[in-house]
Amino acid sequence: MIKAVNLQRSYQNTGGALQVLKGIELELFPAEVVAVLGPSGSGKSTLLHLLSGLDRPSAGEVFWGELAVHALDQHRLARLRSERLGLIFQQHYLLQDLSVLENVALSGRIRGEFDELRAHKLLEDVGLSERADYLPRKLSGGERQRVAVARALYLKPQLILADEPTGSLDRHNAKAVFELLVSLARSEGAAVLMVTHDEGLVADVDKRYYLLDGILQLDGVNAPG
Ligand SMILES: Nc1ncnc2c1ncn2[C@@H]1O[C@H](COP(=O)(O)OP(=O)(O)OP(=O)(O)O)[C@@H](O)[C@H]1O
Ligand SMILES: [Mg+2]
Repeated sequence: MIKAVNLQRSYQNTGGALQVLKGIELELFPAEVVAVLGPSGSGKSTLLHLLSGLDRPSAGEVFWGELAVHALDQHRLARLRSERLGLIFQQHYLLQDLSVLENVALSGRIRGEFDELRAHKLLEDVGLSERADYLPRKLSGGERQRVAVARALYLKPQLILADEPTGSLDRHNAKAVFELLVSLARSEGAAVLMVTHDEGLVADVDKRYYLLDGILQLDGVNAPG
């Protein structure tokens, strides 16, 4: 469903090139829930940006199913991304002038479709029914991240790519957001790839990978059931 082949990314700095990803191999299957762990600065966000087609690799390829992401023009890429992927960023990027409900339904509104029932159902799932008419600035950090989870699920994506909740979330809230994401994705049949530096956060996942020195290694597999 998503696949990375020999994925590399380096950045040019004044001090020369910094090679962050050195040949990542990764394949995700439908409805699989996977965590990528790795210390701060190891390239987790970089990896998610490449997988979502928001950034281009220095070498290597990303496939969404049979589609080679590098071969898609920007317009098609953006449309396919919104159809197939739900993105949750390290900063939640809620639109400040829209209500919580409108933020959840944002991807639908852009396409001229607004399914109010769906948006309300998701807000209920993340425990924020009472906040539908709030503006995001009136929410706590954890509540905002839960809105971001609901928003990512709105168009029923096959795959959710999630960067860890902001450092501003306390341990308890960060864990709650992760658990909510996993249980909701499982009930909706979406695959999840989430990244975090915090080992304690990820419990109920199918596979764990570790990103270290630019290489991704399988760290553990949970048998189904
Ligand atoms: N646009 C950029 N230009 C130059 N260097 C960058 C750029 N983006 C990221 N880097 C560097 O690449 C490395 C990996 O960054 P990345 O944000 O992917 O790490 P991360 O694993 O997500 O870290 P964190 O856990 O703190 O979010 C870091 O050393 C960072 O400074
Ligand atoms: Mg990051």
